[in-house]
Amino acid sequence: MPRIALATESRFDPVPAKLAIKDLSKAFGGRAGVTAIDNLSLEVRAGEFVSIVGPSGCGKSSLIRIVAGLDAEFEGDVHLAHANPGRLLTAMVFQEQSNFPWMTVRENVSYGLRMIGRLDAEGRKRVTEYIAKVGLARFENAYPHQLSGGMRQRASVARAFAADPEILLMDEPFGALDEQNKVLLHDELIRIWEETRKTVLFITHSIDEALVLSDRVVVMSARPGRIKDAFEVPFERPRSVMAVKADPRYGQLFKRVWDALRDEVLRTRCGEERGGE
Ligand SMILES: Nc1ncnc2c1ncn2[C@@H]1O[C@H](COP(=O)(O)OP(=O)(O)OP(=O)(O)O)[C@@H](O)[C@H]1O
Ligand SMILES: [Mg+2]
Repeated sequence: MPRIALATESRFDPVPAKLAIKDLSKAFGGRAGVTAIDNLSLEVRAGEFVSIVGPSGCGKSSLIRIVAGLDAEFEGDVHLAHANPGRLLTAMVFQEQSNFPWMTVRENVSYGLRMIGRLDAEGRKRVTEYIAKVGLARFENAYPHQLSGGMRQRASVARAFAADPEILLMDEPFGALDEQNKVLLHDELIRIWEETRKTVLFITHSIDEALVLSDRVVVMSARPGRIKDAFEVPFERPRSVMAVKADPRYGQLFKRVWDALRDEVLRTRCGEERGGE
């Protein structure tokens, strides 16, 4: 039976984890359907920024949707440590359309705190702070359609951090952005994360993005997705995008991650050429 357990301490000691996933499997469409995830286990420590890279269709979004509580149909255990019950458990940033189109930037960024009744004077101050942190102070009364793609993603990041959840979940939040906007947003995300040290699970196609942002990069196999390998990211904090890319260890680590990922990407392509399963 699938189970999402909420407790103040991990049941998967000895490593205390903020998020512990054990033997997770996910199938779509019953017996004749698609197995998206197969026996995946992963732990994320409190205050850790973990990125998952994997080939297209390997089950990354399926995984993060389960962790976010958006999909309850799975096998295995997903355990989220809810240290402060007054807080939202998770906040999610999607690749696109994370904002409500009928709400202004300010209303969007306020949304999480309003949901849990924390939009008091302190909550409103927090909202103002995060809007400023992502450089949208002049646009707080604008609607999403009045913003550029990069500005919309800034608003989404502000919304997620302002909600102050136990765990922040991001599914390719910058995938649709151009290179320059990405670098700026990466630097902003690094800065905000280093101030808050939130537990983050971040999905991306980009090894570069994963290395720049994370403490640990996890490689998923081709579908059915499971964990193939994991790499600690050694770059000191505080970090900046350019300092990381100029570090000689960056190229070496990039190659190690790519070596792990390459076969999985090729397996995915072969599967597609054969017409799937
Ligand atoms: N609602 C659904 N119904 C049926 N199959 C689905 C559904 N959602 C996902 N799948 C299948 O599950 C597998 C994993 O999909 P998922 O969206 O998790 O992949 P992903 O790793 O996020 O891919 P991408 O990198 O392209 O976003 C795919 O084969 C997909 O076709
Ligand atoms: Mg996806």
